[in-house]
Amino acid sequence: MSKIGEIKNTRVLCRVDFNVPIKDGEIIDDNRIKAHIPTITTLLSNNNRVVLLTHLGYPKGKIVENLRLDIIAKRLGELLKLNVRKLNASYGPIIQKELEVADASDSVILLENVRFNNGEEINDPWLSKEYSKLADVFVLDCFSTLHRKHASVLGIRDYMKTYKGLLVEKEINNLEKIFTHRNSKVLILGGSKVSQKYKTLKELVPYFDYFVIGGVLANTFYKQMGFCIGNSIYCEEISADDIYKTIETIELSGKQLIIPDTVIVKHKDGYSKKSLLNIESNDYIVDVDRSFIERNASILHEADLIVFNGPFGYYEDEVSSRGTKHILEILKRLEATTIIGGGDTVSLINKSNSDSYSLISTGGGSLLHYLSSQGKGLNYTF
Ligand code: 3PG
Ligand code: MG
Repeated sequence: MSKIGEIKNTRVLCRVDFNVPIKDGEIIDDNRIKAHIPTITTLLSNNNRVVLLTHLGYPKGKIVENLRLDIIAKRLGELLKLNVRKLNASYGPIIQKELEVADASDSVILLENVRFNNGEEINDPWLSKEYSKLADVFVLDCFSTLHRKHASVLGIRDYMKTYKGLLVEKEINNLEKIFTHRNSKVLILGGSKVSQKYKTLKELVPYFDYFVIGGVLANTFYKQMGFCIGNSIYCEEISADDIYKTIETIELSGKQLIIPDTVIVKHKDGYSKKSLLNIESNDYIVDVDRSFIERNASILHEADLIVFNGPFGYYEDEVSSRGTKHILEILKRLEATTIIGGGDTVSLINKSNSDSYSLISTGGGSLLHYLSSQGKGLNYTF
């Protein structure tokens, strides 16, 4: 595999993942933007022009005004200390022309959200070919989107010479170390995209010993096991029968599923701590209670390897992010290898503690996919 240091004096299309958490029009955490700086500066140092492609959120093939990338271009410009020009589309003759006439003052150009394009998520070859007309070579640097078979991630490689970006190289090198750990392994899994997480959970049964689940994933288990969860969100696509089989598979494999029995609920009078047996119809589960974490802390203390992806509560809200922060506090003191992955989970790490974990990965779903495919997933081996 050629190295990006070999790319010189040319126009480079680089697929990054700037899918950062945004609240009230502000970027809450810019780690995913920072993670691509080494790739971008390496390309710039060899006199290349860099054209960036990324997605943000789920616009589903339509233009969604608040998912435009202008605030991201602004933040990237601040980090790079240069002006990052943003164009309002990501393919087609007008963009091609604009890139051709761009001069050296536009050394970094960010194109519009690729998920505004209908063909992006279905890996439409026509769209991949259109992207390929924008530059001479392609650098794939979006580790956290590598599990997606999308036009700007997968299909495009049929049309352009492709290089691995420095972030992808670094993440994959770090993750290779994971397979050297043989003893007690714990997967802590929460967050959104529940049907995907659930699928990965089943795929990961052979590779972990303990599965600690929270958030909407746990709500789905409670609901299908027959508990009252009030107004809490759960994933309707997952049936009671399927949940039953998963619990059985985990237990028959000699593994353990650990699911919170004490949670924080929100109701009309505020927040309360409740046993799962006492949830009422107007309650809304927003977090795991810290007493549950403390009661199960020995599993974490005895583990060799812990992978944590997906917050257990509403991470944007101070009260509902306390459970996740408490888990992160415990993990930072452990000698075990601790891997924290995913934009939302990583955004809750206190910046001054980031050195306390073995690995902070930009990938959430991608990290899990890497683990379940034993590093051999389609997009990790190019
Ligand atoms: C992520 O947030 O996990 C990545 O940016 C991929 O986003 P996606 O799950 O919307 O494909
Ligand atoms: Mg995410």
